[in-house]
Amino acid sequence: MNVAIIGTGYVGLTTGVALAFLGHRVTCFDVDEAKVVSLKAGKSPIYEPHLDELMELASPNLVFTTDARAALENADVVFIAVGTPSLPDGNPNLSYLKSAAHLIGTHISNPFVVIVNKSTVPIGSGNWVESLVRDAYRVRGSDRTRFSVASNPEFLREGSALSDMLYADRVVVGSDEPEALEVLRRLYQPLLEQTFESPHFLRRPEGFRAVPFLTSDLQSAELIKYAANAFLALKISFINEIAELSEKVGADIQHVARGIGLDSRIGNRFLQAGIGWGGSCFGKDTAALIATGKEYGLNMQITEAARSVNFRQRIRMVEILLSELKILKGRKIGILGLAFKPFTDDLRDAPAHEIATKLIDRGAKVVGFDPVANGRARIEWKSLELELVDSAESVFDEADAVILVTEWPEFRTLDFEALAPKMKQKLVLDGRGLMDGKALSAAGIRLLTLGRSNR
Ligand SMILES: NC(=O)c1ccc[n+]([C@@H]2O[C@H](COP(=O)([O-])OP(=O)(O)OC[C@H]3O[C@@H](n4cnc5c(N)ncnc54)[C@H](O)[C@@H]3O)[C@@H](O)[C@H]2O)c1
Repeated sequence: MNVAIIGTGYVGLTTGVALAFLGHRVTCFDVDEAKVVSLKAGKSPIYEPHLDELMELASPNLVFTTDARAALENADVVFIAVGTPSLPDGNPNLSYLKSAAHLIGTHISNPFVVIVNKSTVPIGSGNWVESLVRDAYRVRGSDRTRFSVASNPEFLREGSALSDMLYADRVVVGSDEPEALEVLRRLYQPLLEQTFESPHFLRRPEGFRAVPFLTSDLQSAELIKYAANAFLALKISFINEIAELSEKVGADIQHVARGIGLDSRIGNRFLQAGIGWGGSCFGKDTAALIATGKEYGLNMQITEAARSVNFRQRIRMVEILLSELKILKGRKIGILGLAFKPFTDDLRDAPAHEIATKLIDRGAKVVGFDPVANGRARIEWKSLELELVDSAESVFDEADAVILVTEWPEFRTLDFEALAPKMKQKLVLDGRGLMDGKALSAAGIRLLTLGRSNR
């Protein structure tokens, strides 16, 4: 099929590359010229493991353009994957979606086109997009094209986006038109039936045979995305609340999490206590769910609680340092990891930014390092007085404390024996439960871990 993707960010690019790899002819369109120039040169503008390699494999089926007409005029399926960032009132900013819908109505021309909302959008957006596309199409005075809007929420995790897409837990598609559902079932068929040959760098997991295809009405598909993210967010906040109690009563959260996670009704994932969630999705999607509830007179109390527990975690990190060091003014604090999670360079709502800001406000000098996000931080965090250093080791130089914010596995195996003598005070605050306590204690470094009564 001919596929157009509008917006080639984390979601659009991954979707486009995966669909081209599966054999569809894909044109990725973006208004950001620099992004398209880089993509045309075969270089992904974002860091995502194996993306460059899969792009190369899919390249015979893949075109990048800033020309909306070229992308849309022969498309059978159009994916909208533009950003929907939060407005101050919690509602998502739908201006990018609006302009994408306008372009679609202006340029589609095949007899039947399925327009797919992959962006996370408020309930009811499918109908809204349909009316915007219709308005733009009507101006052309043609009735050659029939179109249908479907919702196909995306569940990928940055850092493992390609594997999440090719070996998905499920594909959810919402539409009120059986014909649109059928087109999307055919589009995803190689993925649903796992008939493609898996790339050597992204092997199919052992025993993985098929992907469930869940169809629903538009509204249910839109709500599935928000409900899934809110549930994951509250699972993390729940374990973080229990972690704080663990510290008080002398329990160890890692034992507690294992003990509850072995219950198959609960499951062990998303039970890692720590600084909490960040990134571009959980914060904005929980805010949007609350805003939607408000519109209908509903108070989404559980989601609100998940947010307040989460954002307190960042403040707690600074409070813990304050209680250990007593004075932060003039102290040198190192931060290991800047992006909101490992294996991505995405800095949106990264806890490291808020923690660094709070420390700097209290007069500390803050240095930071991330294996892949330093370059982006240099640009996006230009106004933050954070000194970026070129290695994890440099973070320890003359430090009064080092905080581990992002759980890159390589931070666990640093040579702490060699690093300890460089520190002014031998203190590490592990915000992700990653560090090996024995290795640090052998090096004479005091380790504080959230969720343990180690203070
Ligand atoms: N990032 C994730 O992990 C993730 C996961 C699931 C769902 N989502 C949802 O997917 C959507 C996209 O998220 P993202 O992280 O990929 O965003 P992003 O900011 O990385 O990418 C959006 C892209 O859209 C482009 N764009 C904006 N307006 C455009 C227009 N009119 N025409 C063409 N291109 C346009 C931007 O230039 C940008 O490249 C959001 O709604 C998000 O909530 C994101």
